[in-house]
Amino acid sequence: MDAPVSIIEADPAFRADVLAGLAAPIPAIPARWLYDRRGSELFEAITELPEYYPTRVETALLHRYSRSVAEMAGRGAAVIEFGSGSSTKTPILLEAVHPAAYVPIDISGDFLRDSAAALKERMPLLPIHPVEADFMKPIDLPQAVAKLPKLGFFPGSTIGNMVARTAVDLLRAMKDTLGVGAFLLIGMDRIKDEEVLIRAYDDAAGVTAEFNLNLLHRINRELRGTIPVDAFRHHAIWNDRMSRIEMHLEALRDVEFSVEGQSFAFKAGETIHTENSHKYGLRDSRLLLRAAGWGVATEWTDPDDQFALILAQAEAPRFAP
Ligand code: AVI
Repeated sequence: MDAPVSIIEADPAFRADVLAGLAAPIPAIPARWLYDRRGSELFEAITELPEYYPTRVETALLHRYSRSVAEMAGRGAAVIEFGSGSSTKTPILLEAVHPAAYVPIDISGDFLRDSAAALKERMPLLPIHPVEADFMKPIDLPQAVAKLPKLGFFPGSTIGNMVARTAVDLLRAMKDTLGVGAFLLIGMDRIKDEEVLIRAYDDAAGVTAEFNLNLLHRINRELRGTIPVDAFRHHAIWNDRMSRIEMHLEALRDVEFSVEGQSFAFKAGETIHTENSHKYGLRDSRLLLRAAGWGVATEWTDPDDQFALILAQAEAPRFAP
């Protein structure tokens, strides 16, 4: 009898990243593949964990300082969100800013349509212009917002999931998209006590472990994988030299498996690196923004300096000595 034919068309980019990543001298798979439907649900669950402070602290900062953002960036601007918008954080900013229009940008049309529809119910008078695009590259914004002042919004410390070079490329693309003089409100996670960081990325209930291990289930499902998932464990470490939390999947014993017919072997203790989450000191975040042409207008943090909400402004290029 023939083997059953898989009905799910595997994403060719996922296939290429997994096959190259598993064969690399230091095995690694880009973190974006953690977010299939199940992965996105698990990430939502992470944001509600007691140990995962970033969402809680950033939401509190938005409640407290959105009105100050509105005063500095000007009411009536167009708010451009990089990502499809979160049901909790986005309305806090929008209700304070009273924008003339809201433009969520996301590569996933489905997420974009769902979150735009949910927001429309909550704010029926707000003009919403969703843009389906990859915001890592400069984007032509809709004509309707061309003449409005711009306030970019990039919450969640998602910038921390990029290495410095990619983060600067993204910040530069955002500047090209929004234009000189535009504001950007961005969340960045701070360097802090190692134990607090490890707990946030290796929670007692095991949700982050499930989130990380889900990648192996996804490979098995979508790429004809035979990975014995129970032979791997979630491992979160603080890499002090790189100032980042790293998530790895560590082999608990010697294992052999295949993906799309290609064979792989891991010795006990070897890992697959699946995510970086960089943390920034005050000067680091300023330097990162400046490297991409953004000046820092204001920074707000919580009393324990756990997380920073930064309002930056796109600077005109100028001669420097
Ligand atoms: C999406 N991103 C900002 C999260 C973070 O904190 O780096 C992803 C995450 N990974 C494990 N827990 C949360």
